[in-house]
Amino acid sequence: MENSQSTTVNSKDKQHVWHHITQHAKFDNSDPVVMVEGQGLTITDSKGREFLDASSGGVWTVNVGYGRKSMGQAIYDAVIKVPFFAGNTGTVPGANYAAELIDLIPHMSRVYYSNSGSEANEKAYKMVRQRAHAYNGGKKHKIVFRDRDYHGTTIGALSSTGHPQRRENYGPFAPGFVEMPHCCCYRCPFGKKYPDCNIECATALEDIVKREDPDTVGAVVLEPITAGGGVIPPVKEYFPIISEICKKYDLLLHIDEVVCGMGRTGLWFGHSHYDVKPDIISMAKGVASGYAAISVTITTDDVFKIFKTDETDTTGFFRDISTFGGCTGGPAAALENLRIIKEENLLENAVKMGEYLLDKLNVLKEKHAIVGDARGKGLFAGLELVSDKATKLPLPEAKVQQVIKNCFEQGVIIGSTNRSLEGFNNTLTLSPALICTKSDIDTIIATMDVALSKIEV
Ligand SMILES: Cc1ncc(COP(=O)(O)O)c(C=O)c1O
Repeated sequence: MENSQSTTVNSKDKQHVWHHITQHAKFDNSDPVVMVEGQGLTITDSKGREFLDASSGGVWTVNVGYGRKSMGQAIYDAVIKVPFFAGNTGTVPGANYAAELIDLIPHMSRVYYSNSGSEANEKAYKMVRQRAHAYNGGKKHKIVFRDRDYHGTTIGALSSTGHPQRRENYGPFAPGFVEMPHCCCYRCPFGKKYPDCNIECATALEDIVKREDPDTVGAVVLEPITAGGGVIPPVKEYFPIISEICKKYDLLLHIDEVVCGMGRTGLWFGHSHYDVKPDIISMAKGVASGYAAISVTITTDDVFKIFKTDETDTTGFFRDISTFGGCTGGPAAALENLRIIKEENLLENAVKMGEYLLDKLNVLKEKHAIVGDARGKGLFAGLELVSDKATKLPLPEAKVQQVIKNCFEQGVIIGSTNRSLEGFNNTLTLSPALICTKSDIDTIIATMDVALSKIEV
């Protein structure tokens, strides 16, 4: 971008844009970063700086990479025909994408469209509550969530999120959400060591349901692999145990695939790494790789049937609408996203490159005194930083941010858990686009190596 143009855009941004989750006082002495152009994994800002983006757009979204003309074309073709029609009516891209999605996960049946991960989760919560009203007077309405999971920014989604720093000052919250412990082996909430732990992080669900009264608990919502809470893949026994408890107490199992969905972990869905069949799945970010806003709440036929009563029933159906859930650009982009992932074998690439990435992160762990744990699945990884390996004392957030800043100065964008869990915002996060190569990973790792070396404890 030319200099005068970049000055103009920077000053407009600085004066008028209210950036997400940002303390603007820092812009008294610095400029916001304004992105102008991307290609593959490379993104360029308004000052002409080029970055290798190992975060897929900051928040694990741009799974197929930047600069995909076919994505733009697919959206163009859809919107010039019919840009929008309210979701009580069908559209061609909406019907086609729903069918292709269900082909990937045949035990599910219905796709409900909206625009963000938070909203997709809210839809699921409303389904759980209405189901309770349909058969036990609304009593079985509570939803259990995990204390390191994030489910979104709206009040309902935040009420089911266990990140105190995200929640602080936004209460009061919606009632009916109940917290359960996380499943991070590196910091086992029960002080146990796998495999001699009886998978208490999973069996804890049963204790909670009994404590709350099973007649009042309707569902459990879980990320397949906790993302913003520290990239936490559960052990293989975890989901089968959760699933059994759900069956025993008639709880719907809602898996929040907003981050993991559509290939991030090397399979289409994060939960597919485990032996489990959810009743509800929510997805957003990677569905259209951020080229258009789209989210989906997918359900089984059993869930759908609860809302299909008879034509005279004025309240028994799902009385929810999302205006922009009727935009055709979202499903059109999602269809093209799906085609690209299949045609370019990006799931395979995510598996191969993911293994390579995790191996390299483990090398960093061996080398650096401040790296406590490396974990992940596919192209979705976390590196937990500590002040002391023996005690696992978390590295202070300011130092973690120094690593991020140093990588940025070297031209690599990585992410981190941030402003979520006080004292535990200490995990660096990596989620390069699914097209990434060994050489991209080598650059990311070499950059992190330098940045980690500069931290003094
Ligand atoms: C697991 C998970 N669920 C839900 C959300 C909320 O999605 P959105 O920001 O699109 O509302 C996020 C966002 O980061 C997420 O990580």
